[in-house]
Amino acid sequence: MADRSERPDRNLAIEIVRVTEAAAMAAARWQGRGEKESGDQAAVDAMRQVLDTVVMDGTIIIGEGEKDEAPMLFNGERVGTGEPPKVDLAVDPVDGTRLLAEGRPGAIAVLAAAPAGALFDPGPCVYMEKLVVGAAAADVVDLDRPIAENLAAVARALGRDVTDITVMMLDRDRHEEAKAAIRRVGARLQLIPDGDVAGAILAAWDERPQVDVLYGIGGTPEGVTSACAVKALDGQILGRLWARSDAEAAQAREAGFDLDKVLTVDDLVTSEDSFFACTGITNSQLLKGVMFDGIGAVTESLVMRSKSGTVRTIEARHRLKKLREYAAVDY
Ligand code: FBP
Repeated sequence: MADRSERPDRNLAIEIVRVTEAAAMAAARWQGRGEKESGDQAAVDAMRQVLDTVVMDGTIIIGEGEKDEAPMLFNGERVGTGEPPKVDLAVDPVDGTRLLAEGRPGAIAVLAAAPAGALFDPGPCVYMEKLVVGAAAADVVDLDRPIAENLAAVARALGRDVTDITVMMLDRDRHEEAKAAIRRVGARLQLIPDGDVAGAILAAWDERPQVDVLYGIGGTPEGVTSACAVKALDGQILGRLWARSDAEAAQAREAGFDLDKVLTVDDLVTSEDSFFACTGITNSQLLKGVMFDGIGAVTESLVMRSKSGTVRTIEARHRLKKLREYAAVDY
């Protein structure tokens, strides 16, 4: 019988949401200004400031930006007050830097945390093929089978016709074949310009049935970050590392990565106690973006913990006049 003597303990996600709120507010000032790097830098700076107030001995193991030389919280950077718990962090100060720069929907600030050693280290592997579903279809998907078969299996698991299944996918040339296959089976396709972390959450969240499946090749760091949310939602993310060239494949193999292996949510996050927070920067299907008014700003965030499976939506009102009197972050 399960030992049910444990009292509620600390939920780090409730604290790290202040970090994503700060990043989102700082980044939101750059909405539509055409400056990808400036928005990312503002979010990185705000994130770093607030991260250092969190009581934890944190190490960034997944920073964002190597791929396009964006400003970053770098891998190996120590954050937090230095006191226990020892945690590894995956940060994505702006998922959707181009969306933010162009003032388009879908940019979010993201942070995930897990006990030290529990997050998959993507090493040099920039891209990963991903298939994400919610709890109801978690056991029926198989990345070794064609996407058409997976969609049929998901439809059966959800008790629906495949034409009632919505698949979200990054709009990329590399997806032409998959796009055609999805259209052939008659599933609904939603192509997104960027932002597959939000896509993964929407796909894994059964109570939000707008998206049933996220499929396609996206960032590996984003895959690991998404896995923390997918785990809290009891969904499944299957991933297979994907190399753009033979040289990239050779480099990954040399570093000890298996490009054929299908990774599951439990491979990407090995701990049963991971934390996830994200805050909307621009409006999207998932979250409202930052709204500024005469008083300050309003943010909307999601906070999740895999151990309990609790998902909180937090709307916060920020009085920027007060914050500006003492905060190191330039709001
Ligand atoms: P950035 O915010 O770093 O630009 O990432 C956005 C994103 O769309 C991710 O959500 C996704 O995983 C990745 O880029 C896909 O990579 P690419 O744009 O190179 O296809």
